[in-house]
Amino acid sequence: MAIPMNDIQSVGVIGAGQMGNGIAHVAALAGYTVYLNDVAKERIQSGLATITGNMARQVAAGRIDDEARKAAVERITPAENLDELSEMDLVVEAATENEQVKRKIYAQVCPLLKPEAVLATNTSSISITRLAAATDRPERFVGIHFMNPVPVMEFVELVRGIATADETFALAQRFVERLGKVSAVAEDFPAFIVNRILLPMINEAIYTLYEGVGSVIAIDTAMRLGANHKMGPLQLADFIGLDTCLSIMQVLHDGLADSKYRPCPLLVKYVEAGWLGRKAGRGFYDYRGETPVPTR
Ligand SMILES: NC(=O)c1ccc[n+]([C@@H]2O[C@H](COP(=O)([O-])OP(=O)(O)OC[C@H]3O[C@@H](n4cnc5c(N)ncnc54)[C@H](O)[C@@H]3O)[C@@H](O)[C@H]2O)c1
Repeated sequence: MAIPMNDIQSVGVIGAGQMGNGIAHVAALAGYTVYLNDVAKERIQSGLATITGNMARQVAAGRIDDEARKAAVERITPAENLDELSEMDLVVEAATENEQVKRKIYAQVCPLLKPEAVLATNTSSISITRLAAATDRPERFVGIHFMNPVPVMEFVELVRGIATADETFALAQRFVERLGKVSAVAEDFPAFIVNRILLPMINEAIYTLYEGVGSVIAIDTAMRLGANHKMGPLQLADFIGLDTCLSIMQVLHDGLADSKYRPCPLLVKYVEAGWLGRKAGRGFYDYRGETPVPTR
């Protein structure tokens, strides 16, 4: 490969939502030049505002100093057009969890990138091999699956597609190491490791609600205090985004062809209502007031 393994200096991020702004945040703090893109201009601005707020909180908590914050903020450039990513060494796609959306992005961005640039996806569930095949660089394509919220969660799942070159994979490992994260390798199966285990649990919690076994509060309290989970499954679903949860269940259902992965109809209903969780102001809880109020 033309780029030595430790020579990634610039990172383009496509999608400035919950995950994209978090990835830009940690990459800038680690010293990378970052360009942040989104199809919606206002999402770039709100992403930058989130980064500024989150970094200020890190300073207040004594986790970073103000110098580091200032330098990191200056390293991030908003990129309204994909051609502004043309000089990036690594591009991380963190757009909506929808295969067609991602394929369209690759078709647009690949011809603009340097031939040696590495393209990574933050997909939660979609086949890395299949996504790679939609690009002009399957050997330079890799899954780098960050956890939410990116600045807080220290784990990253790394996924190799069938064509991913060893050097690409090593480069991804070094990148996440420099971000101060711990990684583990997952094989390219639907939803990889974390979401293969986590999402059926969340889906089951939604069935438990749907069947009237418990209320939102009862289910979340039961799992927090009864199973010692940090967050209740419905609270966590809202945090992930219910559209993302539904997409992951659909990928599991289609990819593994087993009815145990059938998305709960109540999850489908919430997504159809646009009640997508925290990012939409309402999901299993309503976040529009001072404290979250359960919707059931
Ligand atoms: N939410 C989670 O907990 C979580 C965790 C790990 C990975 N992921 C994955 O990260 C990705 C993003 O998820 P999210 O939670 O940030 O979603 P989000 O809805 O917060 O953000 C998605 C962003 O992508 C943008 N987008 C859509 N089409 C685009 C295009 N053509 N070009 C550029 N930007 C486009 C949207 O405008 C939006 O800002 C998904 O693949 C998701 O599965 C999510």
